Amino acid sequence: MDIFNLTMNKVFLNLGKQPLANSFLTNVKKKTLDQEFFYNLKICFNTKNFLVSIQKPVNPKKQYTDKYAHRASESKTMRSAFKLVAKKLHKRFKPKKIMEIGSNDGVFLKNFDKKSVIAVEPCKNLAKITKKRFKTYDEFWNLKLSKKIIKQKKEKIDLIFSANTISHIPNLKETFMGINNILSDKGVLVIEDPSLQKVIKNNSYDQFYDEHVYVFSAIAIQNIVKNYGLRLFDVEQISTHGGSNRYYICKNNSKHKNTLRLKHNLISEKFLKLNTIESYKKFAKRVLSSKLRLVKLLRKLKKNNKKIISYGATYKSTTVFNFCKIDTRLIDYVTDTTVNKQGKYTPGMHLKIIAPNEGINNHVDYAFLGAWNFKKEIFQKEKMFLKRGGKFITHVPKVMIIDK
Ligand code: TYD
Repeated sequence: MDIFNLTMNKVFLNLGKQPLANSFLTNVKKKTLDQEFFYNLKICFNTKNFLVSIQKPVNPKKQYTDKYAHRASESKTMRSAFKLVAKKLHKRFKPKKIMEIGSNDGVFLKNFDKKSVIAVEPCKNLAKITKKRFKTYDEFWNLKLSKKIIKQKKEKIDLIFSANTISHIPNLKETFMGINNILSDKGVLVIEDPSLQKVIKNNSYDQFYDEHVYVFSAIAIQNIVKNYGLRLFDVEQISTHGGSNRYYICKNNSKHKNTLRLKHNLISEKFLKLNTIESYKKFAKRVLSSKLRLVKLLRKLKKNNKKIISYGATYKSTTVFNFCKIDTRLIDYVTDTTVNKQGKYTPGMHLKIIAPNEGINNHVDYAFLGAWNFKKEIFQKEKMFLKRGGKFITHVPKVMIIDK
């Protein structure tokens, strides 16, 4: 039986009409707004393989273009996280050949010797950056590309790394077949993606947007990879992107032993009932109540003439703003450090994005934490804002005002 049997997909959450999370607009002229693309963001649970996914994913060719805005090396937190994991993986597996699927601007690969690495990145603007230093394939990952690389390089890969990418690829069958094809017998695939356990615990429904076709659990990953001759042997909980899992996967017959850590993770996911539809139905109720509370709070503050902005033009906040219908009536503008987001408008709700040095001024009373996953880094940076009485608003794990 097909493990992706779509008739087993049960919708539990409807996040409404949504734009592409990274489709920042250059202007808000009628013609531009008329052409804006929207789709229905419905989330479902597969009762056969326990995979949580978007019911109807958007075509990747619409998403990963030469205008892709996200730069992994923008944040200090991510730069040091990638440096640390590169060191750790090198020590644990001593790989000779390394490949990254979704290498973005090379923030992970730059920690390795350039002769030993291969980058795969379909966004041409990003691939152009890594091409200067590494062998880069500016193509979508699939079985065909794995065959092409083997033919050209005449060797297999010992370490495949992929952070925040596998969960973006609708066709998991092709993805894992390609990986199995190119992975050496002793090789290891390491993937990092937002953790479903954390999403459910933190009510962080904004992890669902067009690019996150899947939000994985260890239970689901274990079920999926075994169909492609692969085995999940370890999983590590990490703090990046608001709580992610780092999955360690090898070939079925490889010597890597299943770890105790994997066993414990699977137990805690089963304890949370991530393998039953009931927990997702309860989650959907909590999401709806989060929406009502957030809108109520913003309206109340606005009524009291408070100036509210948003901090970080994240993809996640695209989901929040469009689901909760938060526009310029509630939030004045968004600040973001990413130069190529500045001067643009957020998808769907069309809030202006400006540079933090301009936007975080003495008139701001509240800042919605769009980048709640960087709370620590942001609180460090915004000591002055907090000192003069500025406050943040978050919806994770529940809607509240915070100043520490
Ligand atoms: P990211 O964490 O990648 O979230 P998502 O995947 O939901 O887009 O994005 C963080 C965004 O926040 C990024 O555009 C940079 C911005 N940012 C700031 O503007 N200031 C900061 O201090 C930090 C840490 C991030």
